[in-house]
Amino acid sequence: MSSLTSPPPCPLPPVPFPSPLPSVDTPSLILSLPRVHANLTLMRSTIAELGVDLRPHVKTHKCVELAELCIRKQPLSDDPFPGGGATGLCFQVLDELQPCLDSIDMFSPLNHGNPKLPGNKLDFFLTSQVLHPPKLRRLFELASAHEETTLISVMVDAVSNLETLAELSASHKTNLGVFVEVNVGQNRTGLPVTDDTLSTIVEMAEKIEKAPYLTYRGLHAYQGVLQHTRDSELRAAEIKSAVDLARTARDALAEAGLPPPVVTGAGTASYHEEARLGVHNEVQPGSFMLMDTDYGDNRKRADDEAPDFQHALWIHSSVMSTAMDERKVIIDAGSKAVDLVSGVPSFTDQADNWGMNGVRKDESVEFSSGGDEHGILTLKGGEYDQEKVVGADSGTVRLLPRHIDPQMNMHDRILVIEEEGSNVVTKAWNVHGRGPGF
Ligand SMILES: Cc1ncc(COP(=O)(O)O)c(C=O)c1O
Repeated sequence: MSSLTSPPPCPLPPVPFPSPLPSVDTPSLILSLPRVHANLTLMRSTIAELGVDLRPHVKTHKCVELAELCIRKQPLSDDPFPGGGATGLCFQVLDELQPCLDSIDMFSPLNHGNPKLPGNKLDFFLTSQVLHPPKLRRLFELASAHEETTLISVMVDAVSNLETLAELSASHKTNLGVFVEVNVGQNRTGLPVTDDTLSTIVEMAEKIEKAPYLTYRGLHAYQGVLQHTRDSELRAAEIKSAVDLARTARDALAEAGLPPPVVTGAGTASYHEEARLGVHNEVQPGSFMLMDTDYGDNRKRADDEAPDFQHALWIHSSVMSTAMDERKVIIDAGSKAVDLVSGVPSFTDQADNWGMNGVRKDESVEFSSGGDEHGILTLKGGEYDQEKVVGADSGTVRLLPRHIDPQMNMHDRILVIEEEGSNVVTKAWNVHGRGPGF
């Protein structure tokens, strides 16, 4: 075997703080903290009106500082922002959960815990089934190391997996919360809700109740596909059908004497309507905090009272070439820097108020992929004003992401602007657990 060790990763380009954007290396992710605050404040008041609990999803951003802002209930001694007031957080993979646990000193049960849990514990929910032995081992190591401050929960859709969790929690003498997941239309995981499966759903809740180290948390009923249904009438119908299935499962459990303490689900495009339909008592939106143009393109019904959220994050890129022709500007944001799976990002020379309705992106400049390290901006229309692109911020360009979650997963850090209207970044936050998702 070779004695050579792998060299350390190349360090990120240094950013001296404060740094005006034109001097910040590209491609980078830039976050407007005042907009994050505005989105969280708006969500907090909307949730209070709806009378449900909020558990934002960390998969959106994978950033511990943003997670902390979500579950903060009161200002901190050194930060007047009162927080998003959420009862807990969702995580999709252990690589997102672990950084929050590793930084547990940033959270205090009193200000960040769930008042409905004994001891006001932090309420961290991995919205995944955990079956593979390496993951189970890691899950129980984390749950046991942090049991004093945190209740970690997972979800199940199979009796065999539930039995494994019951055994492992007993052998580790470690508490674990468990939600039963039902399939409400995503057709991916979760037990289908049919006359034939209701008895299994009840059986699983009974087994959780009986297992000495498991806590019965309730039902997980999330339909992600409908979040991107553009047509508002169609989306409303899909939401209703998902909620009808959740209601059937909830009622069967209640009839069996096991009413689910929590019925949780919903995303940015459905949380308002789902909460109003009265089955879910907790919602899990994530994207609202940063927004993307995919959500921006969703249409809303005239009577839809769900508020609009602002874009709070963009990709900062710079011009590489204008040699090809007067209609093209080549930038350094290719397929390694911007997520293209869900569509292309949008050019913008401003970053104000785009919401669910009426996204304001500049459609006279169109992005297309120029390969791994290049993006192509094509100027459309009669007058080709390259200055419009090249001149903005001294040769740097702003792109709005199409889909926020995979966009965040491509970068190691977010550079933060702390004052509205400023173009000066003053700190960096890490994006944790990037990559395939362990
Ligand atoms: C289980 C679960 N809950 C909540 C969300 C958050 O949805 P959104 O980011 O669309 O608001 C997601 C997103 O994929 C999810 O998978």
